[in-house]
Order: sequence, then structure tokens, then C-alpha cells
Amino acid sequence: MLRNLRLLALLIVSACVSTSFSQAQTRTLDSEGHQWWQNAVFYEIYPRSFADSNNDGIGDLKGIDSKLDYLKDLGVDALWISPCYPSPQVDFGYDVSDYENIDPMYGTLKDFEHLARDAKKHDIRIIMDFVLNHTSPQHKWFLDSASSRTSAHRDWYIWRDSKAPGVPPNNWLSGFGGSAWQFDPKTGQYYYHFFAIGQPDLNWRNPAVEKAMFDVTRFWYKHGVSGFRLDAVDLLFEDPDLHDNPLLEGKNEFGDANMQNKYNDKLPEVHTELKKLRKVADENNAVLIGETYTSNRDELKEYYGDHNDEVQMPMDFMFCTVDKLSPAEFRTQIANAESTGGWPVYVIGNHDMPRSYERYGDGKHNDQIAKLMAGMYLTLRGTPIMYYGEELGMENNDPTRKEDVKDPIGIAGWPKEKGRDGERTPMQWNDSPNAGFSQTTPWLPVPASYKTHNVSGELADPASVLQFYRHLLALRHQDHALLYGDYVALNQDNPNVLSYLRRYKDEAVIVVLNMSATAQQVSFDLSGEGFPSAKATTLLTTSTGAPGGQLNQVALDPFAVYIGKVSR
Ligand code: GLC
Ligand code: CA
Repeated sequence: MLRNLRLLALLIVSACVSTSFSQAQTRTLDSEGHQWWQNAVFYEIYPRSFADSNNDGIGDLKGIDSKLDYLKDLGVDALWISPCYPSPQVDFGYDVSDYENIDPMYGTLKDFEHLARDAKKHDIRIIMDFVLNHTSPQHKWFLDSASSRTSAHRDWYIWRDSKAPGVPPNNWLSGFGGSAWQFDPKTGQYYYHFFAIGQPDLNWRNPAVEKAMFDVTRFWYKHGVSGFRLDAVDLLFEDPDLHDNPLLEGKNEFGDANMQNKYNDKLPEVHTELKKLRKVADENNAVLIGETYTSNRDELKEYYGDHNDEVQMPMDFMFCTVDKLSPAEFRTQIANAESTGGWPVYVIGNHDMPRSYERYGDGKHNDQIAKLMAGMYLTLRGTPIMYYGEELGMENNDPTRKEDVKDPIGIAGWPKEKGRDGERTPMQWNDSPNAGFSQTTPWLPVPASYKTHNVSGELADPASVLQFYRHLLALRHQDHALLYGDYVALNQDNPNVLSYLRRYKDEAVIVVLNMSATAQQVSFDLSGEGFPSAKATTLLTTSTGAPGGQLNQVALDPFAVYIGKVSR
């Protein structure tokens, strides 16, 4: 019966495929009713830092194109490319001056089309970063908006009078430090910018803005894009009456008062807008990924939409930022993600936070811990999004002098806030100068560890972090329990070892993760789960003294991973 229903769903859905000339693949469900993005492994590329094809020190689209074989072999199914549109680069592309083109430093629209075609040949999809909350002041919409109070685009941004001479309209603060209001003497009003002065917020209450931005998504769907990562989506709307935000105790890293962003963050209108954006995505068999900074389960649940009609993949930053090897904490976060009713999305790092290698590493066992983290988030029920270089054990390379800082946050917040340059350094391809990223000095310096942590060296070393990722991702793509199985928490009171079962029909995979620096011995009784035999076949482990297949005595080295197929 269930099978028939699924088949019916498949037929209905395939019949609705859009006839446009888009390369977005037709919408089909697999035999288990999964959509493509539920089985896919996503990989974030920061294009400035991935591969430099023309040796100007900055990565580019042709560089990405040249690495598709590597990505395919690694086990990646979809690339999220951080913004590569024309931009003055105030926030390295998150200040867009033209949504429908490619910045010359990254190539041309033709190069993009070429990349999309090559990616398709590799069965890899492309997700663009959609910076929808704000533009650059160099965008033609803003140029017109700022030109006069009566210009056609005036209301496309948020302009307000001063409260009193020299006093901004209200107390809202920028996430990049200082007031969120910038006075423009030309028209005598302030404009609102949640981020840098070079990132004025769009006014999403204006239907013309909505239409123009939805058309941007259609433009990229026609160019073969399979979805968008929605940048800063929490911040799309502001209280039209501009109430002051409540102040909290203490100061932040910029020296500003701490503030609760009650009137300019996660307003209910965001959800109305997301439903509309989702309709356009559905017409194109596309996925929406949310940069959703939620602080509790209910907020996360809301982003899926009451009828799963908003963002299919809201990122769970509560899981992402546990920041310590705590089985109890991870159990709680996984249970939260499991309880929303939506498909979980697991991330451990991105271009806005120190690399996971640093945040979880203890300085001595970082490689083992990098494998441990992968052993966890790549075996959970849900879709993982990797960050480039994570698979190598890339580490941060933070600037040590203010004059070297490139990131606007680091410039404003130095020395308390050193900015995000450290986690955005060039991909480490080999041990030649500049890590094989470029033949010239790259825009950010590579860390010294590129000598030992690089693609060619790690491919040659069976015990490397990269090889662990490759084996794990291969397993994930083949094993039904890892793709479709339920998550069942095991031995929940163990303070050192996180364990769970992925159970699918009469198969199961057991994952056992020693999050402590001491050897551990654990025992499982799975008779209650329908697996009384107490035996497993090892699929992948980093424990040296082979733990064997007896589930009543699994021995784990410090920080070791054990993954086994449980037999009945
Ligand atoms: C998002 C991006 C971040 C950027 C900000 C402003 O948080 O991930 O890198 O600075 O939005 O666009
Ligand atoms: Ca906004």
C-alpha cells in the first residue's frame, strides 16, 4: 500500500515537471520517497579560496571547474558557491551590485554556464548564494534610490528621517559594529543597513522588490541552478514603526551595548515571504537552504513551515555550535533536530566561524577528532553540508596584525574580534608553494600545516582525514540504513560515548563515537530494537585494536569511531 502511494506520488510529481529550458533536473522521488536533496552531500565553496586558474591570487569559476573530478571522487553531490556576482567586495561578495552576472574576478556568465554543464556531467548540482536582505550601494537600484527622495526606487530601501538633528532614527545596531543607520547628506535621510555601511537593506514590504528578487531566482534556475542558500534570511523584515530594541547588560566585541534584536530579527513576515519564494523553487524542483540562526527548536521548526512549505533545509546552528565534545549536548541537539518534523540539516562549519578542526580539536588529537566529528554528522539522519577543506583537516590561519586583516568585522572589532579571514584561506591542494592554490601570493596566506594537510599528500596516506571522509561518504551513498534509516539513540546515560542506530526495515547500522581522551569499552543490548544477535560487521573504524563484531564489548581508542552493520 505504502509502496503504491509512493509510486503514485512519483507519477504525479514527474507529470508536473516544468517545460522550461532549465537544466534543473526533473523532480523525481526515489523508491523510498526521498527527494534528491535528501540523499545529497552538499559542499560549500568559498570561490575566492578554492582554486585560482589565472594566477591572480584569487580563486575563480574555472578553478572550480577544474576540480570537479576531485569533488565527485570525494562523494559530493551539490556545491553551494558563496557569492560570485559583481560586487565591490566590501564583504567579499555579500554586497551584490548585479544579481544576474558574474564578477570579472571570478570569470564570466559563459564560464558559469560552462561550469554548470560540466557539473551536470559529473552529476553534481549547483546552489547559488542568494543575498536577499541587502545589496551593495553600487547596485543600480540603490544608486537610483539615493539620487532623490522621489526617485522610482526610493522605497526599495529603508530611508528614514533623523530622530533629532544628528541622531539616527532609532537605537538599532549593525551586526558589524556601530549604528545600523547611515546618514546620506544628498537627500538628508538615513538608510538602514544591518551589516556594513556598504550593505543597505532592501525593503521587502515593497512588492516591486519582491518581484525583482523572485525574478533573480528565475534567472538562475534558467541557468541550471538547483537551489539557493538564503543569506541572512532572519533579517528580511523590520518593524515599520522602528521601535527601539531592548538593551541587555554588557558590551559586545565592537564595544557596543548588547541588544535584543526584537524589532528587526525573525519578524513573522519572514515566513509569509518564504512561502512565496518556496512556490517559485517548487516550480523549478529546487531546494532552499536557510542561513537560519535559531536559538531554540521551535524557531527552527517554524522555518520548515507548518506544511513543510517554507525552507526545505534550514541549517541548524544550535548543532553546529555545540563547540565541545559533549555526548549529552549532541544527544539533545540531535533529538531537537529529529523532533521538528522537517528533514534535519547538519553543518559543523562555514565561512563565518572558526574551522571545526579548531573548535573541536584539543591541539593533540586534532586529526582523530576531525574524523570523529565526520563520523558523527555524516552518519546522522539528514543532509550534511560540508565546508571546503574540512575534509583535509584544514585549520584557521588568523591574522596576527591589524594591518593584515581583510574582513570588515576584523577591522572593526580588532583585537577582540579578529574577523573571519582565518577560516577562509586557500584550499590546500599539495605541498608546493601556496599549497598549489595559485602560482602567485594568494589573497590570504595558507597556514603552515598545508605541508602535511593537503589533497595529494592525504590521498597517498590511507590513515588521513581525507581518506576517512572518502570512505565514509562512499558508505553513506550505498547503505540504505544510512540514507533512510531512523535515528535511535543508544546508551543515553554514557557521558563519554555517543552511540546510535540507524535502523531501516530489518537492517541497521550502529555508530559509536568515543568523545573522550581515554580508551572506552561499551556494550550494547539491541534485542529491544529487534537485533538480538549482538553481532556487527565492521564497516569503518579508526580504532586500532580492531573492536571486532561483538556488540557486548566494543573497545574504542581515545576519540575513535566505530561504524558497523548490525545483523539479526
Ligand atoms: C551572512 C554571510 C556572511 C555575511 C553576512 C552579510 O551571515 O554568511 O558571510 O557577512 O551574511 O551578508
Ligand atoms: Ca532587512
